[in-house]
Amino acid sequence: AWNTDHAAAIIRERQHLEGATLPILHALQEAFGHVPDAAVPLVAEALNLSRAEVHGCLTFYHDFRRQPPGRHVVKLCRAEACQAVGAEALHARLRRHWGVDWHETSADGRVTLEPSYCLGLCANGPAALLDGQPVARLDQQDLEAMLQEAVP
Ligand code: FES
Repeated sequence: AWNTDHAAAIIRERQHLEGATLPILHALQEAFGHVPDAAVPLVAEALNLSRAEVHGCLTFYHDFRRQPPGRHVVKLCRAEACQAVGAEALHARLRRHWGVDWHETSADGRVTLEPSYCLGLCANGPAALLDGQPVARLDQQDLEAMLQEAVP
């Protein structure tokens, strides 16, 4: 969970880097799973930037999550080679099954769906990262089975 003291320590450790905004935002997401709006004034103050500048950076890069993710994060490849072997159909089925579109979390908090643009598994698509683990030749059954298994 978000913790202001922990966040402040993360920012302090990196605020002297050149172009510190992105490394700080990445480190915050790494630590907390997302970068809440509460981070913006902390980062702005540490780097002597306006809140609007930090907010702009946070919203420009789609890799930053501004809400906590679901228990599982599926990053589905949307690049061309995976599209050609059915990634779009998989996306449509995920959307129907969990009611999630890109960057959304299912109502039960189980899964967050995010896009990825090539995972280097193009010869074995459709490809995805499931909770950070690369998965090749993904089909709907595999995906559901993996999510069932992974439920704590
Ligand atoms: Fe999907 Fe490369 S196009 S992994």
